[in-house]
Amino acid sequence: MSALGAEALRAEGLVKTYGSGHTALRALDDVSISTRRGEVAALLGPSGAGKSTLLQALGLLSLPEQGTISVGGRVVAVDGQAREDLAAIRRGGMGFVFQKANLIPFLTARENVLLALQINGRVGAPAAKRADDLLGYLELTERAAHYPAMLSGGEQQRVSIARALANEPAVVFADEPTAALDKKRGRDVIELLGEAAHDHGTSVFVVTHDHRTLDLFDTIYEMEDGRLRPQPPVS
Ligand SMILES: Nc1ncnc2c1ncn2[C@@H]1O[C@H](COP(=O)(O)OP(=O)(O)O)[C@@H](O)[C@H]1O
Ligand SMILES: [Mg+2]
Repeated sequence: MSALGAEALRAEGLVKTYGSGHTALRALDDVSISTRRGEVAALLGPSGAGKSTLLQALGLLSLPEQGTISVGGRVVAVDGQAREDLAAIRRGGMGFVFQKANLIPFLTARENVLLALQINGRVGAPAAKRADDLLGYLELTERAAHYPAMLSGGEQQRVSIARALANEPAVVFADEPTAALDKKRGRDVIELLGEAAHDHGTSVFVVTHDHRTLDLFDTIYEMEDGRLRPQPPVS
């Protein structure tokens, strides 16, 4: 475990309601949280607690109607209104890993990673080298020319991590990334995300049900009924 760096994300007073009237459901109920570069944080809680909603808010995918979100110390959204180009912040500074790898089936592992670079305007030899370095880092060099259907679930998830890390994001969000994997592969995935955080100062934020991997996290949050439990002091 390494020293934590600068603030990566900060959210204050997030409130998100689905529906309205008597069916309104408060999925985020005054949630405040912050993460630092190099920190690997887990978010636990029962199904329906609001974990995915919080991840989507922090990842600027779906803004909550109340609260302030800052990225790298800059306020980017206030009370549901964008203050900056959120798509650009996401593209350049955030990576996402989901339960299913969601690779593009007609592109090879290498091309899936290259595409993430190209979307950010990174092309040619430097992009090719970056893709190959990432595939090497995730021990996928031998699999680079394979299509997703030819890869195991664990390999596909490693490609999706390579893709998420492609543009050196400040923050990587992962929503139940190990749910479809066996114990060993699930642990490998969290270890890889942890290495990325500690080696490259990425802030990693993982929604998980997998208590077998909790020893790999720097910080553990718990949610229930849209509220974040107070954090015990770090010993
Ligand atoms: N798009 C949506 N429309 C309506 N209700 C939703 C929607 N997404 C989530 N919810 C509800 O919000 C609550 C929190 O959901 P979610 O954030 O997905 O929880 P978790 O990821 O912890 O299982 C749940 O009660 C869920 O049914
Ligand atoms: Mg969820």
